Amino acid sequence: MEAFAQMGSMGHEQVLFVNNPDVGLRAIIGIHDTTLGPSLGGCRLYPYASEREALRDVLRLSRGMTYKAAVAGLDLGGGKSVIIGDPGIKSEALFRAFGRAIEGLGGRYITAEDMNTNVDDMNNIRRETRWVTGTGQATGGSGDPSPVTAWGVFSGIRATLEVVFGSPDVRGKKVAIQGVGHVGYYLAGYLHEAGAQLYYTDINGSSLRRCVDAYGGEVVDGEAFFGLDVDVLAPCAIGGIVNEHTIPQIKAPIIAGGANNQLNEEQRDGEALLERGITYAPDYVINAGGLINVYAELKGLPRDKAMDDAGAIFTTVKDIINRAKSEGVTTIRAANALAEDRIEKVGRIQRSYLPS
Ligand SMILES: NC(=O)c1ccc[n+]([C@@H]2O[C@H](COP(=O)([O-])OP(=O)(O)OC[C@H]3O[C@@H](n4cnc5c(N)ncnc54)[C@H](O)[C@@H]3O)[C@@H](O)[C@H]2O)c1
Repeated sequence: MEAFAQMGSMGHEQVLFVNNPDVGLRAIIGIHDTTLGPSLGGCRLYPYASEREALRDVLRLSRGMTYKAAVAGLDLGGGKSVIIGDPGIKSEALFRAFGRAIEGLGGRYITAEDMNTNVDDMNNIRRETRWVTGTGQATGGSGDPSPVTAWGVFSGIRATLEVVFGSPDVRGKKVAIQGVGHVGYYLAGYLHEAGAQLYYTDINGSSLRRCVDAYGGEVVDGEAFFGLDVDVLAPCAIGGIVNEHTIPQIKAPIIAGGANNQLNEEQRDGEALLERGITYAPDYVINAGGLINVYAELKGLPRDKAMDDAGAIFTTVKDIINRAKSEGVTTIRAANALAEDRIEKVGRIQRSYLPS
């Protein structure tokens, strides 16, 4: 499909191709929808096999950000960027050149860390533009967002428990976490403090040891994760893990974790979970704490405020699950409808002329 046709079918406003051969920069910035505010989303550095693949990724990811910001109640639109390149070859000039391209958009796109980019890269972008978040605390950034993300996930787990078991109480509940890196580790801490019985799996032995040393709990084999007899499966590692192979193994009544893109095929896998009576807390709703954190950074709000707002994910998750139940649809569909409602309604306020 041609670029305009793809943009049209997914509803994108603008796509910028950035080329700077002097520093080896080839990047694409996707701005999906700015009805609610400037588009915001991370910058992913990845050795895409083709330009087509890079374009597909940036279009898909930027649209996802529109929905995430809308459901989280933020005044932000959806954007994302990809740099086509080798994550092993980074330079100051690469990110500064990218920063200049962002500056040229005048604030319509704000970037942040994503796969293969880090605080140092954001600091280099910051030298050319102020439209960047997630810079180091030394430059006024908010630092690691994962404690806030994990707090949102914890709140979403409590909400899901309330709908399924009639109480949000985590005490005595068995929760299995896949991936105890940044988000999974903090989530384990909150769950441990609330009295949950914890199980973990990770491909990294030292991450597992760190978690067991801090919070106790039991290490389980990765292969066994989906068949565990627990109350909650909390995927906090990679995407695509809820799929046609894993769904038949699932015994837990709840899937609620921080990983992005948990359903391999949103429609098909969402329906399969619904049919099996498994309650799924939509990933982009429950893991919005990271975005809430950078939004607080942009607005100059303290971390406490970000934590409070991430805590409000409790209500959002509960409302979405209840809406899905009453309409007999998947929770992802209910979440998407909530996002579209908000964009449509807030969009209406812009119809009247405002003298400057
Ligand atoms: N960091 C945030 O604030 C944030 C915000 C929103 C969403 N997310 C999403 O949450 C997930 C985790 O993010 P993170 O920042 O904690 O990443 P991370 O890299 O710090 O942690 C991921 C952990 O998962 C483990 N892992 C990788 N593949 C695995 C597998 N197949 N089985 C078991 N464990 C595996 C890794 O060893 C690592 O310990 C990602 O999907 C990310 O996109 C993170």
